[in-house]
Amino acid sequence: MVYSCALWTGEPDEDLEDAQIAKLAWHARSAQAHGASRALDVGCGWGAMVRYLATESGVGEVTGLTLSSDQAAVAAEGAPANVEICLQDWRDHQPKEPYDAIISIGAFEHFARHELSQAERRAVYKSFFDKCRQWLPPGGRLSLQTIGHEDFDPASGTGALFFADIFPESGLPQLSDIVQTAEQHFRLVGFRNDSDHYERTLTVWQQRLEAHKDEAYEMVGRETYRRYVRYLRLSRAMFGRRLSTLYRMVYERRPDGGTDVS
Ligand SMILES: C[S@@+](CC[C@H](N)C(=O)[O-])C[C@H]1O[C@@H](n2cnc3c(N)ncnc32)[C@H](O)[C@@H]1O
Repeated sequence: MVYSCALWTGEPDEDLEDAQIAKLAWHARSAQAHGASRALDVGCGWGAMVRYLATESGVGEVTGLTLSSDQAAVAAEGAPANVEICLQDWRDHQPKEPYDAIISIGAFEHFARHELSQAERRAVYKSFFDKCRQWLPPGGRLSLQTIGHEDFDPASGTGALFFADIFPESGLPQLSDIVQTAEQHFRLVGFRNDSDHYERTLTVWQQRLEAHKDEAYEMVGRETYRRYVRYLRLSRAMFGRRLSTLYRMVYERRPDGGTDVS
């Protein structure tokens, strides 16, 4: 129940489940969440990351934010008692205390719609990093995973299909949008560009969907199935041709007023 790019480690016989767990572990490690008192997952989906933080990383209190009531219900069901799921936009989130670590996987793409101007999108990204700065102490870490666009024009034919048909409320950042809007409060301490990991994840998703075609027909009908397979095929081609790419970025909050080394 994870629907974002996995992290393929290159181990022999690695399957998608292994690679998704490797991704959760990578973000927990990168955010230095192990044994932390409080951690936040912005865009927690069905709850895999919050559960991992509460169980594998031994975090004291874990909060997950999602905009989907279905996800909130599933994520909360059977979660350990120290996990709180909020059906809430990060813009409205007001934690009772700061967090030690923040993780956000596959949500940044949904923060600013593609039809906004670059200045408007950057204003949204800046307000996200401002919030993360408020929620973390100096030295606290944010581990962020997002799709970005490289040479791809979001207004092109492929882009139009993506945004009109599949992800109408989304918009992909360019690397410079992220770097410039984060840098006032955060230093970049880790960076990976893993477009080939998304290509492989999408390949497995497509194979599995096609292998369960009849069940999918029954659940959602032929038309939705057909559109979804087209989306997976197109997405895969976009990562394969490096038109879009997958960033994993680790940010550390700067101290207030800069660092004095005198
Ligand atoms: C593609 S899903 C990824 C879910 C999960 N992180 C995963 O990897 O499976 C994006 C998630 O971000 C959430 N999201 C998008 N915009 C959000 C916002 N403004 N505030 C809080 N959550 C948001 C969605 O509700 C959804 O849970």
